[in-house]
Amino acid sequence: MSYLSIRDLDLNGKRVFIRVDFNVPLQKNDKGEMEITSDKRIQASLPTIQYALDHGAGVILASHLGRPKGKPNPEMSLQPAARRLQELLGRPVKMAPDCVGPEVEALKPAPGEVLLLENLRFHPEEEKNDPEFARKLAALCDVYVNDAFGSAHRAHASTEGMVRFVPQAAAGLLMEQELKYLGMVTSHPERPCVAILGGAKVSDKIEVIRNLGKVVDTLLIGGAMAYTFLKAQGQPTGKSLVEEDKVELAKTLLGELGGKLVLPVDHVVVSEIAAGAANEAVETIPDGKIGVDIGPQTVAKFSKVIAGAKTVIWNGPMGIFEKPPFDRGTVAVAKAVADSGATSVVGGGDSEKAIKAAGVTSRITHVSTGGGASLEFLAGIQLPGVAALHR
Ligand code: 3PG
Repeated sequence: MSYLSIRDLDLNGKRVFIRVDFNVPLQKNDKGEMEITSDKRIQASLPTIQYALDHGAGVILASHLGRPKGKPNPEMSLQPAARRLQELLGRPVKMAPDCVGPEVEALKPAPGEVLLLENLRFHPEEEKNDPEFARKLAALCDVYVNDAFGSAHRAHASTEGMVRFVPQAAAGLLMEQELKYLGMVTSHPERPCVAILGGAKVSDKIEVIRNLGKVVDTLLIGGAMAYTFLKAQGQPTGKSLVEEDKVELAKTLLGELGGKLVLPVDHVVVSEIAAGAANEAVETIPDGKIGVDIGPQTVAKFSKVIAGAKTVIWNGPMGIFEKPPFDRGTVAVAKAVADSGATSVVGGGDSEKAIKAAGVTSRITHVSTGGGASLEFLAGIQLPGVAALHR
């Protein structure tokens, strides 16, 4: 199956609707105004927006922000994103009062102009993938471009439904980049291919483990999910986080994946979870102790495997990353991934923070802008926003 790229289309004089993912983190400042705390997703959409402008398009941008439950909510307005985009593009970005309706239709941008529609989720029809709403969005444009990889796992009106009603649909440059790297590591990776999975719960990553298990040569497991696997092997886990109802499943996965699945051999443990709490590294978790990070022997073991890899896929932290010093294992893994020189694809907020903290972001081949979307991709699930683009 194939899809068109924005580069395949003639955009000159056309009105191009670009579905971006401007679902950026916000916080209220002292003056009570909402401020963007990371503009990474806005930055990531710039090449597509700039491409459309350079090729003579009038650009309409649309996104959701947060989960306003189908009602307007000033704290989830895309206004701050419009201001930031204007600074980044160095040209005016007009903010529409809504995303559909006569007022918006009257604002249709001329070539070289940029209009950002207000939060799509202020209308319940967006998440319901309502055909009438999708038709109204489609009526705003000549060409539809989906660059919102981060939202591609949602079958909503702006990501899936409206594709049926537009004359032409294509993937944006960010979408293409995401699909290229995530596709490469999951379908034809250069070997050895190593996946590193962490995070709290096995239950969040069952399908990812199964799907990657078919492709990779080694699967390194860290984070609290490792304790459920250790329990399945009959090892002591003290008071560490174990998903009791997933122990049987962990046994099955250990059986299915055989020697591919590598667990930590030592652990940093504490008596209570608090930043800076007294801790020690142990091979066997004593009764009453809680595992909070992979230990130094595991860091050495994992780093050796990573150093020999030609492809690395990483999702999820190795410990309670947000409470230093229990970020050590995760930061060490970040350094090992960068030092390996392998093609590396990283997804998930904490892994991304770790590569930043380790100062190695520029040495990672691709950092995905998708959280849920990249996990579903790694699980082998067809993303509705991508499927809709297929011809
Ligand atoms: C994300 O941040 O993962 C996407 O923007 C999707 O947001 P959602 O989980 O609210 O659908």
